[in-house]
Amino acid sequence: MPPVRELDLLHKVAVISGASRGIGRAIAYHLASRGCSILGTCSGHAGVDALSTGLSEEVSRRVFAATARERPESLQIKGLVADIFSDDCASVIADELSNAFNGRVDIFVNSACDPMPGVIGAMGPDEVRHSLLGNIQTPVMIVEELVRRRLFQPDSRIIYVSSIRSRQPWSDQLMYAAGKSAGESLCRTWAQAFGGKDDRYAFMAGTTANAVTAGLTETEAVVNCGPEAVQRFQDEFFPSQSIPRFGQPEDVADVVGLLCGHDARWITGCVVSASGGGIKIG
Ligand SMILES: NC(=O)c1ccc[n+]([C@@H]2O[C@H](COP(=O)([O-])OP(=O)(O)OC[C@H]3O[C@@H](n4cnc5c(N)ncnc54)[C@H](OP(=O)(O)O)[C@@H]3O)[C@@H](O)[C@H]2O)c1
Repeated sequence: MPPVRELDLLHKVAVISGASRGIGRAIAYHLASRGCSILGTCSGHAGVDALSTGLSEEVSRRVFAATARERPESLQIKGLVADIFSDDCASVIADELSNAFNGRVDIFVNSACDPMPGVIGAMGPDEVRHSLLGNIQTPVMIVEELVRRRLFQPDSRIIYVSSIRSRQPWSDQLMYAAGKSAGESLCRTWAQAFGGKDDRYAFMAGTTANAVTAGLTETEAVVNCGPEAVQRFQDEFFPSQSIPRFGQPEDVADVVGLLCGHDARWITGCVVSASGGGIKIG
């Protein structure tokens, strides 16, 4: 039986990039189970269906029917194709918020990424550009668009899903690690800008920005690398973890969820390790 959560995010709206599968989907489920409306992005129509129908029905069944509670009318769950490699990703998201979510966003979670590793000595400029676009430029442009259109609300939450790879380097993942490190840096600057000190962003004062650095997590992105690679990852990461097992998407989602609540209002500009102790920060 899943936990019965307080509906503390009722009437709030979350945008989660890469929400149709894996960690992003678990974050969407977690926030929806607290009453938050979800605009989840993905790369294709199968993902839209997985969100608008699959996730929405699962939330109705497991969160509300199973606990004999009515699903709140305000709770919307929608999928949207917003390719992180397209020029209009940010405006597509902002348009949808304006058209279907009362022109507001309270939580932005950047979970979609370019998983291209970046092997030293084997990269061309196109691969490097692609990685910078997916992991840095598009998240920046999404926040830019949401700020410019003043869709962010006071006390909003911005969370960039990073990776422990940014602190546990490997020559075969140069670009992936660099993109994640940059995401953590973006959060520090967003935190400083949006807290309330800068009049230009007074409309969203109290907003926090943090990175959650995920450890080895059992998702398709990892499992599809094949058994040999999975074993290599386990051999690399388990010894440094305090809890030596694969993380599940829900393990990471629950940490993201902690940062989204009112109780986390004083945590900003941080990197929180969601890795079973794989990386110890602080
Ligand atoms: N798994 C791990 O061990 C691990 C560890 C550290 C950090 N992370 C981070 O966690 C995040 C999620 O990873 P995951 O393992 O959950 O990945 P995943 O299971 O492969 O899920 C990827 C999600 O991103 C979406 N996506 C893929 N390409 C996209 C594009 N071009 N535009 C928009 N959406 C796109 C997918 O949508 P479609 O269904 O439409 O393809 C899907 O919803 C990533 O930022 C990753 O770096 C993961």
